[in-house]
Amino acid sequence: GGHIQSRLVQCLIVKGLAGCVHVAWSLTPSCVKSVRSGTISFEYHRYEEMRKARIYTIGESFEGRELLVLEMSNNPGTHEPGEPEFKYIANMHGNEAVGRELLIYLAQYLCNQYQQGNDTIIDLIHSTRIHIMPSMNPDGFEKAASQPGEIKDWFVGRSNAQGVDLNRNFPDLDRIVYINEREGGANNHLLQNMKKAVDENSKLAPETKAVIHWIMDIPFVLSANLHGGDVVANYPYDETRTGSAHEYSASPDDVMFKSLARAYSMYNPVMSDPNRPTCRKNDDDSSFKEGITNGGAWYSVPGGMQDFNYLSSNCFEITLELSCDKFPSEDTLKNYWDQNRNSLVNYIEQVHRGVKGFVRDLQGNPISNASISVEGLNHDITTAKDGDYWRLLAPGNYKVAATAPGYLTVIKKVAVPHSPATRVDFELESMMERKEEEREELMDWWKMMSQTLNF
Ligand SMILES: *[C@@H]1O[C@H](CO)[C@@H](O)[C@H](O)[C@H]1NC(C)=O
Ligand SMILES: *[C@@H]1O[C@H](CO)[C@@H](O)[C@H](O)[C@H]1NC(C)=O
Ligand SMILES: [Zn+2]
Repeated sequence: GGHIQSRLVQCLIVKGLAGCVHVAWSLTPSCVKSVRSGTISFEYHRYEEMRKARIYTIGESFEGRELLVLEMSNNPGTHEPGEPEFKYIANMHGNEAVGRELLIYLAQYLCNQYQQGNDTIIDLIHSTRIHIMPSMNPDGFEKAASQPGEIKDWFVGRSNAQGVDLNRNFPDLDRIVYINEREGGANNHLLQNMKKAVDENSKLAPETKAVIHWIMDIPFVLSANLHGGDVVANYPYDETRTGSAHEYSASPDDVMFKSLARAYSMYNPVMSDPNRPTCRKNDDDSSFKEGITNGGAWYSVPGGMQDFNYLSSNCFEITLELSCDKFPSEDTLKNYWDQNRNSLVNYIEQVHRGVKGFVRDLQGNPISNASISVEGLNHDITTAKDGDYWRLLAPGNYKVAATAPGYLTVIKKVAVPHSPATRVDFELESMMERKEEEREELMDWWKMMSQTLNF
């Protein structure tokens, strides 16, 4: 049944994206028929336009449903040097259904606006590789959706088919970083060289493993993870330092994370409404301000995906709670889209903030896996394969250093506006080259001395 379901989802997505998706892959004949006979008006689209979207899968759920991703880019399928990667993930709690639908609408919206010549969207798609995963837990969704009637149970379908809560299932890197804060140690890339251990860890659900690989394989810069049950933009850390249930738990990038969460909430009139009543009578949302909250200040979450992104990779992720009701009736979906459309687009645009550029050697060869560190912020970013990097930063003056083993560190002063990102390239001299230079200098000096002294 799993495959039929996911083909159907593919089919629905393709119907909405007709003309935008590169439809080279396997559609069932019935889907093709329904696409052809559907409400979409078929026109001729230029080949170039047709190739702005792609659908791929990062693996399968426990019951064998595909974990589908829609990719929107002017060059789908490849990382373009210098172009930042962005992702949205929804429905990791299978019963939280609003985000799942919103992401399908978002893909359709981006596609349509692109084709209609909307400059904002064209610029965004040309400058960003956008990955959209409408459902990380398709098994849970099917379980939640198959309950009869409009009103769904609060928990049915939350977990995957093995009963695992995927947002408690990621390696708990917060614990490691909190020890490192006390005893010295890294604040970033804590899963370095541990891919094998992840693969062999039987406690990790297949959905979790697939997403961990995805996070490690693509140089994502920014991300959001869509949930339901409340209305707020939640930022790291999610797990408290002391283990207490509620405690503000700032990450080194607290200022930027607040700004990112605000970039979402400010365009959502419900989320940012200071007079919004709590979702339920006894809800404690005393930590909510302007539609945002620190995760730990709200309630502690160990093993969550948001903090895992920040502590294992270059990716900054926030968690969006989009609706009081987790699985509202279909006739409310348009309303949720209207509330969230501008936020969803504006949040993607945040990927173009801070500093970005390339790290190369003196011959112009890219240096991958170089560290970009910012004075005063204990969280380093690393360069991708082509030596390209993106370091999200709030406005201000910074000292940014590029370091790589075997090279001399270069430090630059950078003024960062709100946006766009400031371009800062680094050229690193290898220590061997420096030694060679020093030797030559010494030889010159020796020659000069010997001539002067008439040896
Ligand atoms: C173009 O897209 C932006 C971002 O979603 C939107 O605010 C704007 O209204 C769109 N313009 C038109 C003409 O639809
Ligand atoms: C990246 O650099 C770090 C620190 O220099 C190192 O520990 C790690 O093994 C490197 N990773 C890769 C994939 O080369
Ligand atoms: Zn959730």
